Amino acid sequence: MPDEWSHTMLQSDPMRIYRTKRDAAHRAVTSKYTILGFISSGTYGRVYKAQSVDSDGTIYAIKKFKPDKEGDVVTYTGISQSAIREMALNREISHENIVALKEIILEDKSIYMVFEYAEHDFLQVIHHYSQTLRIQIQSQVLKSMVYQLLNGLFYLHSAHILHRDLKPANILITASGVVKIGDLGLARIIYQPLQPLFAGDKVVVTIWYRAPELLMGAKHYHKAIDCWAVGCVFAELASLRPIFKGEEAKLDSKKNVPFQRDQLLKIFEVLGTPQGNVHYVIYLVLTPNVFLFKSEIGPASETCQSTRI
Ligand SMILES: Nc1ncnc2c1ncn2[C@@H]1O[C@H](COP(=O)(O)OP(=O)(O)OP(=O)(O)O)[C@@H](O)[C@H]1O
Ligand SMILES: [Mg+2]
Repeated sequence: MPDEWSHTMLQSDPMRIYRTKRDAAHRAVTSKYTILGFISSGTYGRVYKAQSVDSDGTIYAIKKFKPDKEGDVVTYTGISQSAIREMALNREISHENIVALKEIILEDKSIYMVFEYAEHDFLQVIHHYSQTLRIQIQSQVLKSMVYQLLNGLFYLHSAHILHRDLKPANILITASGVVKIGDLGLARIIYQPLQPLFAGDKVVVTIWYRAPELLMGAKHYHKAIDCWAVGCVFAELASLRPIFKGEEAKLDSKKNVPFQRDQLLKIFEVLGTPQGNVHYVIYLVLTPNVFLFKSEIGPASETCQSTRI
């Protein structure tokens, strides 16, 4: 039985006071948002469409990270690296072409990230044009989509952040046509890294959007890998199918990273095989009426950077 003195001490313990206050102020996710429906299930969790119960009734997308599960038992071994990255980076940045994080809620061993809502993603747009409308995306629309994508990427790169998973499903677009780069689960800051980026993550970027230097096993890589992915997304928007649709070689039983031969061959088929000290240059030409996607083999000294157009 605690004596009167320790009881008084406990009552005045600042940590205890803080926790009591915090728990009293905590509002459950479902008391703040009405879940309107399920949007998608990804690698790390599920995304729901939700409406704020506040008077403004704003629509949000809530990403619920899965807790660790052993059979049917929910265990708690920590927070996934992807969730940590997404939370840490998204809290620090703000740009109209990057999906905004409104709040993070911790509840019942799950993390809920509340994002501004975007009605579509680029993959849905591509499917809509290729399957339903059966027409090309109009050049002005295409131009706006790629311009905004580059605008968001330029902001990320200026903040020394590499996205490392740009692909149509991770690029959102609102009903009014505002592009929002999403899914920062693989993103990281590259300012003065203490060790090669490869040391932290052996595989980055979804295979069809992976730059040649990554396919060749580069240990040090830079912003150009995101620019390559933008080029691939651009070509996909223009032709409504992936430009380099390679077969992914899977990890072996020892989890060794395999050489992605087929993917590299797909690139060579389209762009030609590089000879000697050259690398690919993919660039965009934007004029008031025409929108061209050009690719050619150029000297290795000209590195691909995201530049404001
Ligand atoms: N803010 C948002 N508004 C509307 N839909 C969204 C939003 N964020 C994500 N989505 C939808 O949910 C899908 C998955 O989201 P996200 O890529 O962030 O999750 P993930 O778990 O990392 O998924 P994956 O492993 O498939 O990349 C997106 O492709 C998009 O269709
Ligand atoms: Mg994703």
